[in-house]
Amino acid sequence: MISNSFTQEACTKHSEDYEVTEMIDYGSFGDIFKVKTVSDNKIYAMKQIKYRGLFQNDPYIMNEIYCLTHLKHKNIICLHEIIIDTDEIHIIMEYAANESLDKFLVDHKDMEFHHRYKLFSQTLQGVMYCHDMDVAHRDLTPSNILLTKDMVVKIADFGLAVKCFTESGEPVYCTDYIGHTSYLAPEVLSQNPFLPKPADLWSLGITLLFLIFYSVPYNGLQEDVLKDILRDTWTTFVESKSKTAGIVVKQDIVNIVESCLRVKVNSRPSICDLIREWDNIAPDSLLDTETFTVGSK
Ligand SMILES: Nc1ncnc2c1ncn2[C@@H]1O[C@H](COP(=O)(O)OP(=O)(O)OP(=O)(O)O)[C@@H](O)[C@H]1O
Ligand SMILES: [Mg+2]
Repeated sequence: MISNSFTQEACTKHSEDYEVTEMIDYGSFGDIFKVKTVSDNKIYAMKQIKYRGLFQNDPYIMNEIYCLTHLKHKNIICLHEIIIDTDEIHIIMEYAANESLDKFLVDHKDMEFHHRYKLFSQTLQGVMYCHDMDVAHRDLTPSNILLTKDMVVKIADFGLAVKCFTESGEPVYCTDYIGHTSYLAPEVLSQNPFLPKPADLWSLGITLLFLIFYSVPYNGLQEDVLKDILRDTWTTFVESKSKTAGIVVKQDIVNIVESCLRVKVNSRPSICDLIREWDNIAPDSLLDTETFTVGSK
């Protein structure tokens, strides 16, 4: 768990200062509401998390609090305040009016590639900042990538985030194997202690496929997903989805997906490597005139 000095005594705010205007989502970890301040009608999003006993003993609550209080970047959701009641925590944060990338894309399947390119660029910037701050997110999925009304990406949901190094500078190997199965790296699915940053890179590869095709190559039970990963079935996925959509994805983009989806952890790029590669892609078009091949780089 990420440690934190945040205490209930330090909290002088009141949840009555906010009025719920809309239910946004029932999260598995907490419910999300759109709220406004009673005093001046300012709009925020509120994540309401129930707890029992000491909330400081709940790693997911403490991870979220630590990250939102420490991470300040234009592509990370901005914390407004945290209110601690006796059995609930209210996390008041900026409201992302276009909600999550997965919900947004359902209604905007015709979004041009240069827009999708920008969304992925911003996601990469947010992840680079986290990794620079020695934090891995571990639950990077389109449902945790939020969009403001001006289409600025805001990474959210830091319940599974971890520090990547111990205080004495040793790399942290994670031993909790959770997250959205479709986005989990093979080392997580096979339940081997794993380094969290490369696992984020895997999730970014799957997220990129989602941005292109609005679906992901790996679905189902953990053991089935792992089998599919080891058979590299994402390539078949790209071929069949491209055929159905009548497009040919640029070789450069396929190469980037391929690098993120390397089973061998050490062979995956760092976030800086990935950004360098991504910046080299012309953002104008998704299409290429030639058929792609995997691993031709
Ligand atoms: N600040 C926000 N502005 C607008 N919508 C938000 C905001 N925060 C969260 N949401 C919406 O609520 C959903 C769930 O939020 P979040 O991921 O933080 O909760 P969770 O309990 O961890 O849920 P899950 O386990 O389903 O990821 C998001 O996918 C998004 O659609
Ligand atoms: Mg979430």
